[in-house]
Amino acid sequence: RFGWRLYLRETTDSTNAEALRLLQSGVPAPFVVMAEGQTAGRGRRGREWASPPAQNIYYTLALKVLNGLQGLSGLSLVVGLAVLSALRRSGVEGVGLKWPNDVYADGRKIAGILVELNGDPADACHVIIGIGVNVNMRPSSLSIGQPWTTVREQTGGLASRADLAHFLSESLHHYLDRHSREGFSSLREEWEASNIWYGRDCVLSTGAQQIKGVMNGIDEQGALRLWIEGRGEQCFSGGELSLRLD
Ligand code: ATP
Ligand code: BTN
Repeated sequence: RFGWRLYLRETTDSTNAEALRLLQSGVPAPFVVMAEGQTAGRGRRGREWASPPAQNIYYTLALKVLNGLQGLSGLSLVVGLAVLSALRRSGVEGVGLKWPNDVYADGRKIAGILVELNGDPADACHVIIGIGVNVNMRPSSLSIGQPWTTVREQTGGLASRADLAHFLSESLHHYLDRHSREGFSSLREEWEASNIWYGRDCVLSTGAQQIKGVMNGIDEQGALRLWIEGRGEQCFSGGELSLRLD
């Protein structure tokens, strides 16, 4: 529909890794890779993403970076908005976003987003946007280190992965187009409206240190605004940051 060619795989290690290989073999972006199952699905910082076959959505969109790296600011937050909108169209209520890019329903993780950059920013550079949505996954043999839920559990019926993947492509197209035309600031308010931890006591882990503060929303670029006792408000952005409730 939008000129996004679709590459379907029965099994792959990770749809993000498969997208990277396609780019390296000369396949032109934009394109989408979807797989029925992943053998090495991953989250941020190399963490594992549970990826049983035929139950969930493993979706990766590869795009050319057109507006330079500064145009990417807030990108993963915008992808969060797109996932949220696709979930709502599938009938999931009570969904919200946890900064920077986790999607929660009813206080548990329902989808995850992994945005990776490939290539030389001065030359041909691509973003690889990986999205995992829990659709019909069963608790059975899985051990996931934090509370999670599925579309099925939230809607009370077997959910169509085909419909959801279709909604996802449509909403990604819509939000990425707005983001590239108007920048992140035009979507900031919409993001804030779904910010599940606004006003909550949190701990930000930067890798090197743990900083306690109150989640005070985001700035015009999508950076976290943390209100810190004795220091006032400070903004944080970057890939290695992770926010938890205190
Ligand atoms: P943050 O990104 O802010 O650090 P996080 O703890 O959710 O938050 P991520 O790296 O984003 O960390 O996500 C990976 C984590 O998600 C895994 O360590 C695991 O606890 C959890 N997880 C793995 N697979 C799934 C899944 N299919 N559904 C929900 N959660 C999962
Ligand atoms: C996270 O919450 O840390 C991000 C999880 C991202 C999972 C998706 S599934 C499709 C794509 N392929 C991967 O290996 N990871 C992303």
